[in-house]
Amino acid sequence: MSSHTPNIESLQHEERVFPPPEQFRQSARIGSLEDYESLRAEASASPETFWARMAEELHWFKKWDTVLEWTLPHAKWFVGGKLNISYNCLDRHLQSARRNKAAIIWEGEPGEQRTLTYQQLHSQVCRFANVLKRSGVETGDRVALYMPLIPELAIAMLACARIGATHSIVFGGFSADSLKDRINDAGCKLVVTADGGYRRGSEIALKPTVDEALKHTPTVKGCVVVRRTGTRIHMEAGRDHWWHELMETVDAKCPAEELDSEHPLYILYTSGTTGKPKGILHTTGGYLLQAHLTTKWIFDIKDEDIYWCTADIGWVTGHSYVVYGPLSNGATVLMYEGAPNHPEPDRFWQIIERHGVNIFYTAPTAIRAFIKWGEQWPLKHDLSSLRLLGTVGEPINPEAWMWYREIIGKGRCPIVDTWWQTETGAIMISPLPGVTATKPGSATKPLPGIEVDVMTKAGEAVGANEGGYLVIKRPWPSMLRTIWGDDERYQQQYWSEIEGVYFAGDGARRDADGYFWIMGRVDDVINVSGHRLGTAEVESALVSHEAVAEAAVVARPDEIKGSAIVAFVTLEGQHKTSDALKEELRKHVTREIGSLARPDEIRFTDALPKTRSGKIMRRLLRELATGGAVRGDTTTLEDFSVLEKLRAEEE
Ligand code: WT7
Repeated sequence: MSSHTPNIESLQHEERVFPPPEQFRQSARIGSLEDYESLRAEASASPETFWARMAEELHWFKKWDTVLEWTLPHAKWFVGGKLNISYNCLDRHLQSARRNKAAIIWEGEPGEQRTLTYQQLHSQVCRFANVLKRSGVETGDRVALYMPLIPELAIAMLACARIGATHSIVFGGFSADSLKDRINDAGCKLVVTADGGYRRGSEIALKPTVDEALKHTPTVKGCVVVRRTGTRIHMEAGRDHWWHELMETVDAKCPAEELDSEHPLYILYTSGTTGKPKGILHTTGGYLLQAHLTTKWIFDIKDEDIYWCTADIGWVTGHSYVVYGPLSNGATVLMYEGAPNHPEPDRFWQIIERHGVNIFYTAPTAIRAFIKWGEQWPLKHDLSSLRLLGTVGEPINPEAWMWYREIIGKGRCPIVDTWWQTETGAIMISPLPGVTATKPGSATKPLPGIEVDVMTKAGEAVGANEGGYLVIKRPWPSMLRTIWGDDERYQQQYWSEIEGVYFAGDGARRDADGYFWIMGRVDDVINVSGHRLGTAEVESALVSHEAVAEAAVVARPDEIKGSAIVAFVTLEGQHKTSDALKEELRKHVTREIGSLARPDEIRFTDALPKTRSGKIMRRLLRELATGGAVRGDTTTLEDFSVLEKLRAEEE
């Protein structure tokens, strides 16, 4: 390691290994190591031939002429090919018995249920596509979707895709200002929303927020409103129309447009840590290919399965793994509108029992909340339908992984820890549940066709068990194409940090078996006495203590050590805070990973500040730990009261 480019050091060691359960392996879509290795070998020998062979699984109106055109950092996949995603997700299944199969089983937070078969979903999508056309939306126009998690959101997405309009979904928790900025950045012509939705027992108003935003959005010509809560709202004459009324005025036939493989499918804004949100642009053919394949390989979906990804459709996880990936595979998707703890902390387990969910995909932040609420909640329910568990969004602490395995999976279900980003479009690093032996806390290995490495800032590959920067070395079909309206930022942010490769912004280590361990965002790295430590390892050491549910560590400037480590810790339900426990936790970290990582200060708290997608906002904690005042942008904070409480706890 050169002293000019101090790298990230790794202290963690995790020895447990869990081979895929034999029973699972036997019926898995990819169930033999030989099959897996041969895919991998094929992909690395000739990536383009491999991707072309994989792309045969999609329905193309016209085959491509060229698999890949690559001029760093711009990629075009399946050039000359014509397809339609909504056709792939719907029409394709109407030719078989799948037409009468449930595509979506939806449960609202107040308890109502709706089921849409593939045939029903298809006709709704066609109708709404006609509504879009009637509203003046044309191929290439942008449409903003600001909606609760209801089937109409999936219908609207697929309808946009059907006519070649580019959707931009803005999560229903964002403010009028954030919505306005996103609408203006993308120049949206139409907004689709609802009167409101439900969350944790209350009604969340959406339409009033849209009204506020639309005061300053010159490109918007109309607004379509779904009646969800029935609450009284303002309808602006000439601009606003009810979804259910418009749907009556159109017919249920609308052929899918034959779109270029590189046609823009969607823009999705991601905030990053600072600065203006970036409109990540995904296109059609390459994106669908990887969403489709990863869903099939990693979630092992079979026709008889009920699959549930708990993400809101407003995040990329919802785009790829609630809508496009599962539907293109003809799966039955469960959707739940509301909070995991309404009316009680066992709502998720109740849903799994009620519907017989087989495949369950959620986030570490949710798992840590379940741990904090206590295992009595899942233990009340029959979870025996589950056969596969997944996680995404943050590094999962090995102890949280073990809890997930034992308490939810009863030691029977493989866990797929899937690493990817809004920018990557689809999962890049993950076990295949029928073949990969898993290690708690590791996303294991990159998928066939994905070439990942760990490097120094200077672009040198690091050795086994050394920390460094996670990079992707070859273009992949579902990669972002640019940042909407800011190609320079695209080049600079992702392709200039380390020359010639995609810079993911995460720290990582690869162990001697070639397994990847994500160490957290490089912006959050802590520098102690010249040693750079990733946040994930120190946090996992804390979480491995029986009293700890969740932890976030940050650095505070220190005259002697450069930085001191401050740990914010939440405890599992039954444990009490005390100075003795603080001391014990410090010793515990020293024992687990060494004195270098020993927190200088421990602060107990009831909750940690999170983004609306559930990621811990260490930046805010850093500001608190340093000076008390939080100056930076807090608009992505999920719950403002958490910050108030943290401030109060300090006094
Ligand atoms: C960042 C991307 C991709 C869907 C949801 C988040 C972190 C994501 C993992 C994982 C460790 C993970 C990374 C990544 N991340 N999955 N399995 N293990 N870290 O999408 O909001 O674009 O966030 O989430 O830091 O860069 P996103």
